[in-house]
Amino acid sequence: MRTEVEKITPSSLQKAKRLLEEGEIVAFPTETVYGLGANARDDEAVRKIYEIKGRPRDNPLIVHIHEGFPLEEIVSTVPDYARLLAAAFLPGPLTMVYEGRGNLADVSAGLSTVAVRVPSSPAAQEFLKFVGLPVAAPSANVSKHVSPTSASHVLSDLDGKIPLILDGGECSVGIESTVLDCTGPRPRVLRPGMVTREMIETVVPCDDCMPTGERPASPGMKYAHYMPRCATLLFREEDLDAGLRRYDEETSKGKRAYVLAFESCREMIGERNFLSLGETASDGAERLYGLLREAESLADVLVGVAPKKRDGAMESVMNRFLKAFGGEYEED
Ligand code: TXA
Ligand code: MG
Repeated sequence: MRTEVEKITPSSLQKAKRLLEEGEIVAFPTETVYGLGANARDDEAVRKIYEIKGRPRDNPLIVHIHEGFPLEEIVSTVPDYARLLAAAFLPGPLTMVYEGRGNLADVSAGLSTVAVRVPSSPAAQEFLKFVGLPVAAPSANVSKHVSPTSASHVLSDLDGKIPLILDGGECSVGIESTVLDCTGPRPRVLRPGMVTREMIETVVPCDDCMPTGERPASPGMKYAHYMPRCATLLFREEDLDAGLRRYDEETSKGKRAYVLAFESCREMIGERNFLSLGETASDGAERLYGLLREAESLADVLVGVAPKKRDGAMESVMNRFLKAFGGEYEED
């Protein structure tokens, strides 16, 4: 199959709509990462997504709708706190899990709930309005690989496997949405994102990620994720000197080493190869996946440095960062 990459125009939108109606898969931009979309009412199309990604069948998909889409058409119960949160944060990088109505294809891996997302990027809104369907979409990467934040990332993972990638430029948020369970008496964060628990708590009380020991409520959180295809080493900024010693050892063995870190490390990194995550958590979120993919072609060894401040929005960035680096810090 030939994969076309097309800017969003009336004719590419028309093509996307026709493909989805025919049960085909279309990749599209959102403010977080690119999605791999199928008509959420089409069983066969939803099955195709799992096949193309190589995604485990027990990991449910998010259903994407435009701002004007009637939520009650696909979910059965919307608690009052969820209405308050939707008013505060939607459209935006927040996915809310509700009891479903059982009128969609099996997007939820057998669960009775359905995760719904109203993305804020104008390109995503335009696409979803034009096609008029609820669109089931995971991130448009091969399972376990780094999530895509540009059309070329999608192409490099899925060339020849899907007919169309809608190109809306680079994603501005850069890490996946916060997933929030809205089926209980209080909302609960299942996957951290740039809408943080602290932000949610300014509106309503909120529970944290799954209590330890409990089976992951968001099945996706138990899988390895975001892994760049190069060797990785992980250090805390507090141990930056040890990280740089490892970098120097690797380069003296003839390896191409790079450091992935925030600007606060620049001075100590000096003349070494430096992939900068910028100054803030938002900078880091926006740049992380692109830099991990860049490192795959530049580096034999990538030395990751977790910043000293690891709370608030940085905690969400660190959630992805640590997974990409295998989660274990090197000891000094
Ligand atoms: O930002 C995003 O959320 C992107 C863009 C494309 O919208 N999508 C995304 O999808 O990250 P994916 O499939 O890579 O991650 C979906 C996450 C998984 O952790 C999955 O387990 C969880 O959402 N999820 C989906 N449906 C769920 C449900 N009914 N209950 C609990 N968790 C659910
Ligand atoms: Mg994903």
